[in-house]
Amino acid sequence: MANNITFTMIKPEAVANGLSGKIIDAMIEGGFKVKAMKLKKLSKEEAGEFYAVHKERPFYGELVDYMSSGPIVAAVLEKDNAVADFRALIGATDPAEAAEGTIRARYATSKAENAVHGSDSDENAQIEVDFHFSADEII
Ligand code: CMP
Repeated sequence: MANNITFTMIKPEAVANGLSGKIIDAMIEGGFKVKAMKLKKLSKEEAGEFYAVHKERPFYGELVDYMSSGPIVAAVLEKDNAVADFRALIGATDPAEAAEGTIRARYATSKAENAVHGSDSDENAQIEVDFHFSADEII
């Protein structure tokens, strides 16, 4: 499995608040190359399927409603050690715990509305890329 690819979404509240450009800048300044990108509105079914791993969690319904509430920016990013380096760039899930200067510390509003998603393993990165992009959409 390639270890130089990760998947990200800029989440609905960050897109709605006009933060997409600043967040994409932070990704590029962090050394990531954009391999694919699209603005997309997830249906409830798509959001539910994407986050199916969290189905048993108490916040699943809230998460699905939120992630289907408005457009997201989905992207495939490339860098050596992409998954771990991207998670370091975005910071902890809860922005209150995210290190200073990380994308979530700068732009997230809460643990639920935390500005960006980042894949948690190489295996999931590939699954998430395939969920959102066809091969001919990736440069
Ligand atoms: P993400 O990294 O996209 O993966 C799962 C998402 O679930 C996470 O970001 C948060 O948006 C959300 N999440 C995680 N924990 C909680 C929580 N305790 N309450 C609400 N949402 C959460």
